[in-house]
Amino acid sequence: MDDIGIMGKVAVVTGAAHGIGAAIAFAFAERGARVAALDCDRDALRSTVESIVDKGQQATGYPVDVRDSATVDQVVDEVERDLGPIGILANVAGVLRTGPILDLTDEDFAAMFAVNTYGTFYVCRSVARRMRPRRHGAIVVVGSNAGSVPRMHMGAYGASKAATSSFAKSLGLELAGSGIRCNVVSPGSTDTDMLRGMWANGSGERRTILGTPEHFRVGIPLGKLGTPSDVAEAVVFLASELAGHITMHDLCVDGGAALGA
Ligand SMILES: NC(=O)c1ccc[n+]([C@@H]2O[C@H](COP(=O)([O-])OP(=O)(O)OC[C@H]3O[C@@H](n4cnc5c(N)ncnc54)[C@H](O)[C@@H]3O)[C@@H](O)[C@H]2O)c1
Repeated sequence: MDDIGIMGKVAVVTGAAHGIGAAIAFAFAERGARVAALDCDRDALRSTVESIVDKGQQATGYPVDVRDSATVDQVVDEVERDLGPIGILANVAGVLRTGPILDLTDEDFAAMFAVNTYGTFYVCRSVARRMRPRRHGAIVVVGSNAGSVPRMHMGAYGASKAATSSFAKSLGLELAGSGIRCNVVSPGSTDTDMLRGMWANGSGERRTILGTPEHFRVGIPLGKLGTPSDVAEAVVFLASELAGHITMHDLCVDGGAALGA
C-alpha cells in the first residue's frame, strides 16, 4: 500500500469502540498507523482493539470519558509515553438525544454539549498543546450535517455540532502558523447504532433515504445510507499528506442530504 503519510504515525481516535470511530481506527491501522483507541465503553473498546491486533496491526485501548478534562490530559500523556508523539487526532466520540426543543430538559441539552462540544475541546486542546512545539500534526473533528441544516427534533444536537465545527475551524486558524491542519468531516445518516436508535420502526431506513416532507427533510439524493467506512475514508484523507494544503475545511459525507450546504 502507498504511504500517504499515515504509516508509523501515532493516531488517536476517540469514540473508537463503535460505529464510525471503530471504522476510523481500522482504517488508520490498515495504513500502518499505531492507533490509540479512546472510548468510555471498556468492553467494546477491548473488542475493537483485539480485532485490529488480530489482523497483525497496531492498536492500544485507553478507556476514558472525554467529558473529564483532567483524565483526558492524563490519558493523552499516557499515549505519548507508551506510543510516542501523537501525529494524528480524530475526534469522533459523540452522543445524540432527540426531541422537540420545547421538550428538552436542561440535562438533555447539557449532555450533548458535554460530549460533542466540551469533550472535543478537551481532547483537541490536550493534543494540540503537544503538537504545537513539534510543529507537526493533523486534527480531524467529526461533526454532522445537522450542524449546518436545521433538523426537526435534533436542535440541541445540531447546535452542539455547529459549535464544535466553528471551534475546530478557529483552532485550524490558530495552528496554521505552526504547520498543523485542523478539518471537519460532517457525516449525514450513517449506518451505526446511533442512527438505528433514531428509528421508531422498520420503515426507518426507507424514510431516511426517501425523506420525510412532514419534517421538511429531503432524503438522500445518492439513494443510500452512508457506511462507517465512507466517513472513515474522508477522515483518513484529511489526516493524510494528500490533504497537505487543506485546513479549516468542512467535508460533508452525506450522499447529498444537505444539498451541499
Ligand atoms: N451515525 C450517524 O448517522 C451520524 C451522523 C452524523 C454525525 N455522526 C457523528 O459521528 C460520530 C460517531 O457516531 P456513531 O454513529 O459512530 O455513534 P455510536 O453511538 O455508534 O458511537 C459513538 C462512540 O462514542 C463513544 N462515546 C460516547 N460518549 C463518550 C464519552 N463521554 N467519552 C468517550 N467516548 C464516548 C461511544 O461509547 C461510542 O463508541 C459522533 O460524533 C456522531 O455525532 C453520526
